[in-house]
Amino acid sequence: MYCVKKVTDDLIWVGANDRRLAMFEGVYSVPGGVSYNSYLLMDEKTVLFDTVDKAVRHRLMENITEVLGTRKLDYLVVLHMEPDHSAAIEELAGKYPEMKIVCNSKTLTFIKQFFNFDIDSRAMVVGEKETLNTGKHTLHFLMAPMVHWPEVMVAYDSTDKILFSADAFGSFGALNGALFADEVDFDKDYIDETRRYYSNIVGKYGTQVRTLLEKASALEIELLCPLHGFVWRKNIDHIVSKYVLWSHYTPEEYGVMIAYASVYGNTENAAEILACRLRDKGIKTAMYDVSVTPASEIVSAAFRWSHLVFASTTYNAGIFITMEDLISDLVAHNIQNRTVAIIENGTWAATSGRLIQEKLQQCTNLTILDDIVSIKSGVKAEQVSQIEAMADAIIATFPKSVPVSDSSASVMPHQPVLNKLSYGLFVLTTKDGDKDNGCIINTVNQITESPARIAVSVHKANYTCELIGKTGEFNVSILDTSVPFRVFEQFGFSSGRAFDKFAECSYETRTVNGIRYVPEHTNAVVSAKVVEAVDCGTHEMFIAEVTQASMLSQEPSVTYQYYFDHIKPAPKIPEEHKKGFVCRVCGYLYEGDTLPDGYVCPLCKHGVEAFEPA
Ligand code: FEO
Repeated sequence: MYCVKKVTDDLIWVGANDRRLAMFEGVYSVPGGVSYNSYLLMDEKTVLFDTVDKAVRHRLMENITEVLGTRKLDYLVVLHMEPDHSAAIEELAGKYPEMKIVCNSKTLTFIKQFFNFDIDSRAMVVGEKETLNTGKHTLHFLMAPMVHWPEVMVAYDSTDKILFSADAFGSFGALNGALFADEVDFDKDYIDETRRYYSNIVGKYGTQVRTLLEKASALEIELLCPLHGFVWRKNIDHIVSKYVLWSHYTPEEYGVMIAYASVYGNTENAAEILACRLRDKGIKTAMYDVSVTPASEIVSAAFRWSHLVFASTTYNAGIFITMEDLISDLVAHNIQNRTVAIIENGTWAATSGRLIQEKLQQCTNLTILDDIVSIKSGVKAEQVSQIEAMADAIIATFPKSVPVSDSSASVMPHQPVLNKLSYGLFVLTTKDGDKDNGCIINTVNQITESPARIAVSVHKANYTCELIGKTGEFNVSILDTSVPFRVFEQFGFSSGRAFDKFAECSYETRTVNGIRYVPEHTNAVVSAKVVEAVDCGTHEMFIAEVTQASMLSQEPSVTYQYYFDHIKPAPKIPEEHKKGFVCRVCGYLYEGDTLPDGYVCPLCKHGVEAFEPA
């Protein structure tokens, strides 16, 4: 019997679930099953987006037959040719002889490799940004090579703002009667399987995923329809923000994943002692016995945690088998940006630590702590001290404060955050060594979308300007309409050369670049690295590439006008000083008949254009 679900009035999910599959792709256990999503668009023309695995092909055919009724299938769009999504192509071609197959040239090659029917006569080959109108709907095709195969493309329905995202945003796990992510407790029940799917299936291809995210960030998306897992219609930013983190190999959480291989329990004992010492000091830990836990779960955990510890016995003069497999898997999945510590064991010749170190040196940007704890059989008192020293060395690499990626703030693709920019008011912050500084600016513009670049303009008299010139990095905290005047006093009316702008702050929040940002009265924060400095006379303009963009709230950005209308107190001009010019920004009164050329407000550093007669 057919089993379909309505996505929109004219889009029907016609896929199927499989809970009998033991190993997805022959290597990943799927205890919660897996869904193969296929979507049927009932427009003036009918369009099927991908098919399913051969195990559930029969259900797909029943579903399509039911939804189409007496209509024929006009188009099959093949976004991904991997057999778990393409098993029914030939059967559909036989059943619907007039059906066109919409694909790209690479897909066409793969269809011919997998099947023997006449494809050329029915192929409709599309390229980047080409479109297909089906009546009410227009589909736009965007190539997404290596997310997860080279032929992958996605389709955007600009009528209903739906992104058919192929493997991207997919998950392990059968749907269990639900279709939308908001119908389940996603973070409790499905985030781990979504991370495991991402890290193992497309984790290697972070660069290519980021390219797709850049393309997607230019689209207004109301529905996200992947080939596995749930459809997203609410809180799409949530899953997108996870993809931003994962594709940049940025840890989701600060904490230590300890993976150990232990034959007789002694290496496990060392790992346990380390975990206890870390927990004693408030560090989150997760432990895995690599001989028991499937490698895919540990790879997934490695994508989650910031610090990784590998503890392995020596076996056949090498790394223990299951640990060697795990390390190879992590290298193959391109793990990056982690701090690593190693424990080895060997009764007569411990070599596993050095060998693990050598293998991991193939990875990009791993910080491997120098001191390997070496155990000869059982853990002795002197090794307990070494393990404690290792715990301290690991903790020393943790940031003093929680970076934004570990806060409740979601990390977004750049575009939605950059859309917050206006002729508004911002806190520009930077850092030189231990010195944090910031100032208020009103000029931040996005100048290019790909790569995402912004320009900030800051008065040369500002200490922040000098520090950015030196360090080349900064954050922009985009202030929202809840911002009180004291924030402008704090960052705008004194010099960082003389005062610590953060002295009164009860918070210490930093983005991944280590620079502070303002977490209160701020709706978003953008981190950027300077690519060019332009001397604009009184101001320096820094053109910078966005390295991180994080949404903090949905409050509207404060505009310059809003500041004047609602935030800035009316200047108090003493009766005896009626003559002069008042700075409209901060209220400073310049006493005199004429304002000198090039005058700069000593409080807020705005120029003559900000002054008006008192
Ligand atoms: Fe679910 Fe890459 O296929």
